[in-house]
Amino acid sequence: MTFTIGSNTPVARDTFRIVLRTDAEISVRSGQFVEIGLDGYYLRRPISISDSLPDGVILYYKVVGEGTRLISRMKEGETLELLLPLGKGFNPEACASKALLIGGGIGSAPLYLLAKELLNQGKEVTVVLGFNKADEICLRDEFQSLGIPVHIATMDGSVGTKGFVTDAIDQVGPEFDRFYTCGPLPMMKAVRSALSAPGEMSLEERMGCGAGFCYGCSVQTTKGPKRVCADGPVFDKEDLLW
Ligand SMILES: Cc1cc2nc3c(=O)[nH]c(=O)nc-3n(C[C@H](O)[C@H](O)[C@H](O)COP(=O)(O)OP(=O)(O)OC[C@H]3O[C@@H](n4cnc5c(N)ncnc54)[C@H](O)[C@@H]3O)c2cc1C
Ligand code: FES
Repeated sequence: MTFTIGSNTPVARDTFRIVLRTDAEISVRSGQFVEIGLDGYYLRRPISISDSLPDGVILYYKVVGEGTRLISRMKEGETLELLLPLGKGFNPEACASKALLIGGGIGSAPLYLLAKELLNQGKEVTVVLGFNKADEICLRDEFQSLGIPVHIATMDGSVGTKGFVTDAIDQVGPEFDRFYTCGPLPMMKAVRSALSAPGEMSLEERMGCGAGFCYGCSVQTTKGPKRVCADGPVFDKEDLLW
């Protein structure tokens, strides 16, 4: 499906927010992702959906290699080919009344749409976001504009709690019956062992087809091998063999 870039703006160090619109109605849920096709590159780039528009999506991406650098140079009015919506998303319905959302770096992006879904269902939401340094912080203002508490942890202590998201959670002591997390693997492993409540974790794997055919993104779970692109990327904490 062809999407036109509405804006493509730097929002933090090496981090961009891109608004993409098409000429059809779009229906997505939090935790799902898109695959962006790029001229001259065989493999598409998977990026989580951060917010949905009636006719489009908003994504946040970090420039880490050739593909994301190419996208960062694209201008308003240029077009991108997207496959969407891909994967199974978060399950906000599983939260009884109070949710804790834990994002690490660019992994904070898919939690924004999740926060909106939880609020629409009348649930209370607390957000904890972790970054290395102040200049990497993104999405804080967007979460705050939803009127929910947002706690930041930075490794260098330049903003919020000094240390990991788990340090901020210890400090804040939020009440919650279910947590949802997305971020670097070591962070999610630390979160999983620190929190006894049930939770959902969004995984990242290198992808081939991105659509469930090649099994290139398989991970072992308590229920056997599962494809991150089609069975995930969101998995229940209990299903992961960490
Ligand atoms: C389900 C999912 C959701 C993601 N959501 C986001 C997001 O919201 N924002 C964001 O900035 N990044 C996200 N990523 C990571 C993003 O896909 C990679 O950073 C990106 O593909 C790198 O492309 P590149 O060409 O710049 O880097 P290169 O290293 O040049 O890419 C080479 C190849 O490796 C793949 N690749 C590289 N890094 C990753 C990675 N970490 N995960 C999966 N494939 C990778 C690329 O897709 C490409 O096929 C997500 C990954 C997955 C699997
Ligand atoms: S990337 Fe091909 S099955 Fe997941």
